[in-house]
Amino acid sequence: MTYSIALAGKGGTGKTTLAGLLIKYMVKQGRTPILAVDADCNANLNEVLGLSVTCTVGGAREDMKKGSVPSGMTKDIFMEMKIEEAIVEGDGYDLIVMGQPEGAGCYCAANSLLINFLERIQKNYPYLVMDNEAGMEHISRLTTKNVDVLLVVSDTSRRSIQAAVRINKLAGDLNIVFGRSYAIINQTKEPPSAAVLDILKKGGLELAGTVPADEAIYDFDLNGRPTIALPEDNRSVQAAFQIFQKIFR
Ligand SMILES: Nc1ncnc2c1ncn2[C@@H]1O[C@H](COP(=O)(O)OP(=O)(O)O)[C@@H](O)[C@H]1O
Ligand SMILES: [Mg+2]
Repeated sequence: MTYSIALAGKGGTGKTTLAGLLIKYMVKQGRTPILAVDADCNANLNEVLGLSVTCTVGGAREDMKKGSVPSGMTKDIFMEMKIEEAIVEGDGYDLIVMGQPEGAGCYCAANSLLINFLERIQKNYPYLVMDNEAGMEHISRLTTKNVDVLLVVSDTSRRSIQAAVRINKLAGDLNIVFGRSYAIINQTKEPPSAAVLDILKKGGLELAGTVPADEAIYDFDLNGRPTIALPEDNRSVQAAFQIFQKIFR
């Protein structure tokens, strides 16, 4: 069985950054091979990992819908080929980018092929890390629903914490999470306030820990340097690693 960890939370809170750091941690721990899934339509996990991406799964789905399947090839073989093209190899992990959301029209056939293949390729990986857009739609529609750990990322703002609680509730309603959900408060400048802790407590969302705001993370991003290349003695990297250690215990 693949052990899957999904990241969710309001936009800009640090899901992709933490997904990158999680992959860095897991590679260091030898928890490999990992299938990293970028399920955000504004895909940028590849930048955090320092990989370039040319094909996306969304592109494959679009091709199939447009009828670009070559004659003599079945749709499922075409889809399989396209998905394999969309897998980029990293060190200890592979990355697959879901890409653009669906346009108008029915994508049911393409989507169900996609789900089948994703389920199949997942079996080749003991670990899966999925970076999501703000909502839960991708998790509920595009992949198997057995998320072992859901990490809901928030910043210190009230709205973001409330969104975290809501996302966690939604994940519960959709029966996505098999294992546990945790909140991670990212980009902190001071310890979380009592009000913030109270919202989490009332919402039944356990806090796994906090990650401080750090200039280096921001600068790496600004200068197009992969987050995964941050030095391990960086305080935010260390704080994130401590949280991940707790999660895998
Ligand atoms: N702990 C942190 N300290 C400083 N900057 C951070 C931190 N975490 C994330 N960032 C920055 O915040 C921005 C949004 O992060 P990102 O991971 O893309 O968020 P999301 O995927 O949730 O939209 C990026 O510029 C990123 O470098
Ligand atoms: Mg992101």
